Amino acid sequence: MPAPRTILLTGAAGGLGTLMREALPAYGYALRLFDVRPIEDGDGGEDAGEGGGGRNIVTADLADKEALREAVRGVDAVVHLAGISLEAPFEKILRANIEGTYNLYEAVREEGVRRVVFASSNHAVGFTPRPATTPAEPGALIPVNTARRPDTYYGLSKGFGEDLASLYWDLHGIETVSIRIGSCFPEPTSVRMLSVWMSPADGARLLHAALTAEGVGHTVVYGSSANTRLWWDLSTARALGYEPQDDSEPYAPALIAAQGELDPANPDHAHLGGHFCTNPPIWPY
Ligand SMILES: NC(=O)c1ccc[n+]([C@@H]2O[C@H](COP(=O)([O-])OP(=O)(O)OC[C@H]3O[C@@H](n4cnc5c(N)ncnc54)[C@H](O)[C@@H]3O)[C@@H](O)[C@H]2O)c1
Repeated sequence: MPAPRTILLTGAAGGLGTLMREALPAYGYALRLFDVRPIEDGDGGEDAGEGGGGRNIVTADLADKEALREAVRGVDAVVHLAGISLEAPFEKILRANIEGTYNLYEAVREEGVRRVVFASSNHAVGFTPRPATTPAEPGALIPVNTARRPDTYYGLSKGFGEDLASLYWDLHGIETVSIRIGSCFPEPTSVRMLSVWMSPADGARLLHAALTAEGVGHTVVYGSSANTRLWWDLSTARALGYEPQDDSEPYAPALIAAQGELDPANPDHAHLGGHFCTNPPIWPY
């Protein structure tokens, strides 16, 4: 597979999309941006050239099949971040995350794109009991083939996306790396995030590995930094060539002093999905 150069980045107006459209051009990618929300700034090495019809920013909904086809036309790969990123009523999740991801894969198939990187989530397995891990006593890490235990309709939709990716590989030969992202933010802001944090720089490293590794078929990986308090197994991500450089541990003393260690008796601390299992944050729109 020739190294991909032009990438469609869906969800480019969002938190992760903004971080990645800043970080990915350093790897040599030209980006085409897609989001239902307008993207004001045009920085970040977007592609206005061949195949892009001069439209390097596409403001459209994942429900708009024609806009999606036009957006994927001529790109080498798609990084699919767009969708509802919190819990929401099932009808909204159905439209944006389930039908929207189906529409994206259909556009990819129709336009002959060969590689997708899908933003899955730890919430696809959110009801998995978290390992009792501490820096002194690391627990057994959760493998990617652990049974799906979604903690929300949101997590359910990520399991759907992973299975859709599997189907499109087996049926149509379209390769996908599904990344069960932990929490990708500039810094960890909670004790839970010490275990699931992915630094933006490691996020870009992982996307680059997922875009360039040979023969991925459909591969599921967890997305996080090399955290001392890691809960899950990064071996399938490392097999793609991902070498995380960051660890949340330097943030641990201040966060633990402010919030305390995770209390196993607290239901919010019992599962990988944290408070999504008991009191999920609701998508505001
Ligand atoms: N940020 C994280 O730590 C994290 C963790 C796990 C999974 N993820 C996944 O990564 C992706 C990006 O996360 P984020 O934190 O940037 O979320 P976000 O909510 O900040 O961004 C999502 C973007 O998708 C766009 N979008 C939503 N519905 C759309 C539709 N129907 N058509 C077109 N665009 C639509 C929104 O406008 C938004 O800009 C999401 O799929 C999320 O589920 C993120």
